[in-house]
Amino acid sequence: MNRVVIVTGGARGIGAAIAARFAGDGYHVVLADRDPAVVATAERIAANGAGGALGVVADIADEAGRDAVANAVGRCSGELHALVNNAGITRDALITRSQDADFLAVIRVNLAATIALSERFAPQIVDGGAIVNLSSKSASGNVGQYNYAVSKAGVLGLTRSLALQLAPRIRVNAVAPAFIATEMTDAIPDELREQFIARIPFARPGEPAEVADVVHWLASAGSGYVTGQVLPVCGGRSYAAS
Ligand code: NAI
Repeated sequence: MNRVVIVTGGARGIGAAIAARFAGDGYHVVLADRDPAVVATAERIAANGAGGALGVVADIADEAGRDAVANAVGRCSGELHALVNNAGITRDALITRSQDADFLAVIRVNLAATIALSERFAPQIVDGGAIVNLSSKSASGNVGQYNYAVSKAGVLGLTRSLALQLAPRIRVNAVAPAFIATEMTDAIPDELREQFIARIPFARPGEPAEVADVVHWLASAGSGYVTGQVLPVCGGRSYAAS
């Protein structure tokens, strides 16, 4: 029986690396992204991976988008083993200059859609399956990222609450990357980037594949007694003096 996994935000960056990691382990991956590039990403992964990959163009912040994901899962032969809530956005602003619309957009994608997808797919995930959520080091607070920090801190509360609710049938964990080289962090001005990197004990950004390995492990039998936890993937940044 095929093992199916859903990865949201799979068109690029960390999500694409997570999808490739699961496909390399023989999973059939449903990549959901609002960016139509997700179709080409899935085709590339299917061509390289041991498992299959199906790209679905869907905005997970909308019910219709989540219906499209469910439809794609229904078209895969196999059992749903895991859901990876990876899609995320930033709308960075100081709290005094923030727009309500930006705050709500960040909460809708990063938190509300994570809740809605978990609620929707948890009953379908097999016994012993897993949900893995993408939080962030910023969950502990960051100047200019208050809306993002609120959303990612919410993901931690959700992770712990769902882990308790779904134990022992489904494990629910989160990863908290600090600074990973993707289009999201490419958008940060050079001077700020250098300041961030200077504070990482590993003295470099993380690679998407380094997050993907940890997410894959959290969905695997090797982490079978781990639930309700948040694992920093940060080159030591989380514990370094700032
Ligand atoms: P990215 O911006 O490179 O990719 C995010 C993907 O999510 C894009 O393909 C985008 O189209 C998709 N997406 C956004 N909103 C969507 C929606 N409503 N419906 C469907 N797809 C949607 O971001 P990156 O860096 O790969 O981040 C992935 C996750 O990791 C995010 O949750 C992010 O907050 C988190 N993270 C990233 C860090 C980093 O340093 N890159 C650090 C900490 C957390």
